Amino acid sequence: MAAHDVGPLADFPPGTHRVVRIRSVEIGVFNVAGTLHALPNLCPHQFGPLCEGGVSGTMASGPETGWAHRWVREGEIVTCPWHGIEFAIATGVALCSPKLRVRRYPVSVVAGRVTVEV
Ligand code: FES
Repeated sequence: MAAHDVGPLADFPPGTHRVVRIRSVEIGVFNVAGTLHALPNLCPHQFGPLCEGGVSGTMASGPETGWAHRWVREGEIVTCPWHGIEFAIATGVALCSPKLRVRRYPVSVVAGRVTVEV
């Protein structure tokens, strides 16, 4: 793996994401509340452009919500635009099944520049 500069940190403000290309690989770089994450722009379901989907929260009902339906995790979930499968950006794991996941690329900030290891 090698580190690739994908732009200044100012291009990735909190609450935003965008797709960058490193050689032939498209990678979504997300800034979730100040923490950067990088995921492949390729959904494991049917290879849709996962990182071109919207970022939001999700509806949950379980012990953590007292079994009431509540909107949770705002800004932490990307939804694949093709069939709507939701993935946790921080882990790459689909909310519907822990067996469905995408890899995560190491991402860091060096001297004000965002670098992704591919
Ligand atoms: S291709 Fe992503 S949900 Fe189907």
